[in-house]
Parts: sequence; C-alpha cells; structure tokens
Amino acid sequence: MNAKKLAGEKALEYVKDGMVLGLGTGSTVYWTILGLGELVIKGLNIKGVATSKATEDLALKAGIPLVDISDVYEIDVTIDGADEVNPDLDLIKGGGGALLREKMVASVSRKLVIVADESKYSAHLGKFPLPVEVVPFGWQTTMKQISAKGCEPKLRMKNGIPMPTDNGNYILDCPFDKIEYPAALAFSLNMMPGVVETGLFVKMADTVILAGTSGEIQVKE
Ligand code: 5RP
Repeated sequence: MNAKKLAGEKALEYVKDGMVLGLGTGSTVYWTILGLGELVIKGLNIKGVATSKATEDLALKAGIPLVDISDVYEIDVTIDGADEVNPDLDLIKGGGGALLREKMVASVSRKLVIVADESKYSAHLGKFPLPVEVVPFGWQTTMKQISAKGCEPKLRMKNGIPMPTDNGNYILDCPFDKIEYPAALAFSLNMMPGVVETGLFVKMADTVILAGTSGEIQVKE
C-alpha cells in the first residue's frame, strides 16, 4: 500500500467546512491536496494558504481557492509533511526546501497536523540532515559558523548551481547525526545573522499521522 497516500488522505478528517487551511509541501501532503480538490468539487467551502510555489500550482490545479498569508488573521489547520519526527513530535522539515514558508504558516495555525510514512519516525532527530535556509551573501561564512556546532554542512545544489529557495535564499544540509536538544540547537542556529530559518520545528506539531505500507495508521498527539 502507498503509505504516503494513506497518511495524506487520513488528514482530510481534520478538515471542516468554512476553514482556512495551511497547505504544506511534498509528496505526502500531495495526496491531501488532491483529496481536498475532490471535496471542493463536491461543495466543500475552504480557502488554502500555500507554503511553496509548487503547492500553489498544485492547489490551483486541484481547484482550491487560495489566499495570501497576509490576508488571514489565523489559519484553522495546517497539514504538512515532515522528514523526521521524534516521540515529542518535534520535527525536521525542509527536505523539499520550503521550510521558511512552512514555518511561517505553521506559526499562525491553531493546529498543525503532520502526515508521514512510518519510516520518518525516529527516537532522535538527526538521521536526516537538517536543512537550514541561509542568505546567499557570505553563505560560506555562515557555513563555517554552523560547522562549529558539530556538523559538515553541504550546500544544496540543483542543475549545477546552488538551489534557490522560493525566497531567493540557499539551503545548507547539516548532518548532525543525533540532535539531543532540538530547541537549544534551533536557538543557537537562529542567532547566526546569516541564518534565515532552520528546519527544526520544536513543539509546533499537534498531531502526527504515520502510515505503514501494511495499511496501519497511527495517530500521535
Ligand atoms: C518540504 C518539507 C516536506 O514536508 C518534507 O520534506 C516531507 O516531504 P515528503 O512528504 O515528500 O516526504 O518539509 O520542505
């Protein structure tokens, strides 16, 4: 069974008529967005706030009306994916490079529902290299500052050039192996002037839906 599809579609249970929804980015929430599109065709009245250009394109194709984050006071529910989840429901996100907009949208959401296949669940964060969005100016300097925290960051590349984010920044992928104190690491990285935001989402997720290929779904809260 397609675990991502199962998790993505399960999240539709959190959607109610009239809601403003944050629409995450990635191959799991893809299924949520397609499902929402079908519900909109059947008459569901929702508005979406997209977390990336890719999601904006997908949602518009699916027929979901979109609004800008600046035009809403708050978001009822955001549904998004994750690259890693620990038992405290802290997350690593940003595998798709959309971490900044994802965190901005999550920060004004009353509820953050994460959808993932069960392979993303891990006792400690850090197996997945932590994506950190940095400004292009002096990125090597920022990289050195991050290295001092105990990892060897790699500049994310696409087609032979640094991959620009939707915000025109770069991503450094930082393999920390084991992140014992996610909040402390997020704080110290955010203190670096060249760091725009990190993919550590600490105490932000309310619900995590994990699906397995056998069809089993776990909901963690
Ligand atoms: C994008 C993200 C994604 O939500 C994360 O990478 C998970 O993606 P997928 O559902 O494709 O595994 O954080 O920035």
